[in-house]
Amino acid sequence: MKPIRVGLLGLGTVGTGVVRIVEGHQSDLQSQVGSEVIIEKVLVKNVDKSRSISVPHHKMTDNAWDIIRDPDINIIVEVMGGIETTKEYLLEALERGKHVVTANKDLMALHGPEILAKAKEHQCDVFYEASVAGGIPIIRTLSEGFSSDRILKIMGIVNGTTNFILTKMSQEGASYADVLKEAQELGYAEADPTSDVEGLDAARKMAILGTLGFRANVALEDVSVRGISSVSKEDILYAKRLGYEVKLLGIAERQDEHISLSVQPTMIRKSHPIASVNGVFNAVYVHGEAVGETMFYGAGAGEMPTATSVVADLVAVIKNLKLGVNGQQAIVTYKEKKLKTDEQIEYKNFILLHVQDKAGVLARITQVFAEFEVSLASVLQQPNPDNPEAEIIIITHDASKASMDKVLKHFEQLDVIRKIKSVYRVEG
Ligand SMILES: NC(=O)c1ccc[n+]([C@@H]2O[C@H](COP(=O)([O-])OP(=O)(O)OC[C@H]3O[C@@H](n4cnc5c(N)ncnc54)[C@H](OP(=O)(O)O)[C@@H]3O)[C@@H](O)[C@H]2O)c1
Repeated sequence: MKPIRVGLLGLGTVGTGVVRIVEGHQSDLQSQVGSEVIIEKVLVKNVDKSRSISVPHHKMTDNAWDIIRDPDINIIVEVMGGIETTKEYLLEALERGKHVVTANKDLMALHGPEILAKAKEHQCDVFYEASVAGGIPIIRTLSEGFSSDRILKIMGIVNGTTNFILTKMSQEGASYADVLKEAQELGYAEADPTSDVEGLDAARKMAILGTLGFRANVALEDVSVRGISSVSKEDILYAKRLGYEVKLLGIAERQDEHISLSVQPTMIRKSHPIASVNGVFNAVYVHGEAVGETMFYGAGAGEMPTATSVVADLVAVIKNLKLGVNGQQAIVTYKEKKLKTDEQIEYKNFILLHVQDKAGVLARITQVFAEFEVSLASVLQQPNPDNPEAEIIIITHDASKASMDKVLKHFEQLDVIRKIKSVYRVEG
């Protein structure tokens, strides 16, 4: 077979890893795909920038069309990031019959259906394993490994930055602001950390996982999002005392044909395997109707782990080329998307209230829960030595989101409650 010529868009963290693996593992790759794999051209912003790997100068370009419109290039590997312009490049590449491998979750979460439809129209492959959880092969696992099963629940720690912050807060009793600053200094958090800490990055990944897991087109707007910026060290202390860790969990669930997706800081029982995923590591827990519980763990980002997934996609495209079966996506979204209503979404809740320290307060509070048919698993009342008020910690049984919203709205008006200090979803 003729050499496979790859156009690489981007030579940053991931692109550098792609070049290292394609060059370093060339003989293994050739044995698997039966042809030489050549990085033909590389797109960068600045061709004169000094880099940690050497790519011949004549292969570098700052003009994407040199690559997209090169008839000798068979496959585009997109690791430049960005959304609208990048989409334009990839759509034209597909129109020209080039296959695409991308690590771009922002692009796939927002425009995945359009890109996949274009790929189908032109019988091209689009693979995006690295877009969720970097080095963990979760996309292929959901689309192929679990193709025979019906997925009931996916829980993911899919953002390393927030997991690093919450782990440090838990292990060192540090405040959110202090750990965020440290994460920025270490390069784990961006100068503007909003997308990570407010849960948007995780929501994009959950939209991709939900689409694959439930075989229905899940959009970013279908994922309810709450980030970690309001998590206090006191909340984490309470969670630990009660046997929980606080993690930013993406949760996608299915019951009958109805699905729900969310990202929120969640109190997860310490005995659950996902509770012990620490630092920048990622993990995805998948519960299938037939297979039961499974979990996948590994590096969610970084040069070599992410590039491993990108090059694995490249191998998959080349194998399809040899078989002449490109463009037949292993997964099709054949199911109609039916989202659960707030009445149908149910989970346990942790609520921490600051209340007046006097008789009868607890009765007033439990009465509100009863009124909205929320049953309680445990109630703990304790005076706070630093506070003239008392603290009440409540853990509910499964309650609908609609009922809980009504309870909390009622609490805002209740004179015996000084403050609704914190509310968390509880799992495990
Ligand atoms: N980093 C990770 O661990 C990781 C993990 C999973 C997924 N991803 C995804 O992989 C993609 C790349 O991430 P990265 O961390 O490798 O990014 P990065 O280090 O910022 O590298 C981006 C590269 O693309 C080039 N580039 C960007 N915009 C360009 C433009 N408009 N025209 C020409 N060249 C352009 C840059 O050129 P210069 O070098 O000249 O600046 C650079 O080489 C993103 O979609 C990201 O979400 C990253």
